[in-house]
Amino acid sequence: MKRRKFIIKSGAIVGLAVVAPSLFLESCAKGGASPSAPNVNFKIDLSSAQYQSLNTVGNYIYKNNVIVVNTTQGFIALSKICTHQGCTVAYNRNANDLQCPCHGAVYNDSGKVMGGPAPTPLKKYSVVKNGNILAIKG
Ligand code: FES
Repeated sequence: MKRRKFIIKSGAIVGLAVVAPSLFLESCAKGGASPSAPNVNFKIDLSSAQYQSLNTVGNYIYKNNVIVVNTTQGFIALSKICTHQGCTVAYNRNANDLQCPCHGAVYNDSGKVMGGPAPTPLKKYSVVKNGNILAIKG
C-alpha cells in the first residue's frame, strides 16, 4: 500500500510539473486578440472639482476607457487599454510616455509602441479645448 500511494503521489506531482508550465507558456504565447479601444464622444469640464487636477501639467485622468493627459505640449487623449492584453496604462510625466504595469509595454504620447510586447499603437482621440471644456472624440 505504501508503495502504491507513493507512486500515485509521485505521478500527480510529475504531471503537475509538466502541465503547469505549458499552461503558462500557452497563455503568454497566444496573447489573444488585441483588446480594442472604444469609440467615444464626451466632454470634460476643467472647472469642475472632479477634473481640476487636469489643469496641472503632468496630471491625467481616466474616463470612458480613455486616459486624458495634460502634457507640456497640451492635452492628449488615448485609449487606456494596453493593446497587449488589456491592462490599464499610466502616464509617466518624467519620460512623457505611457507605460503598462503588466508586461512593460511603453507608448509615446502619440500612442506609438516604443517598447515591450504591445502589438499595435494605442488609439488616439481628438481633443478640442474651448474655455474650460475639453471635447474628446474618436
Ligand atoms: S497588458 Fe501586457 S504589456 Fe500591457
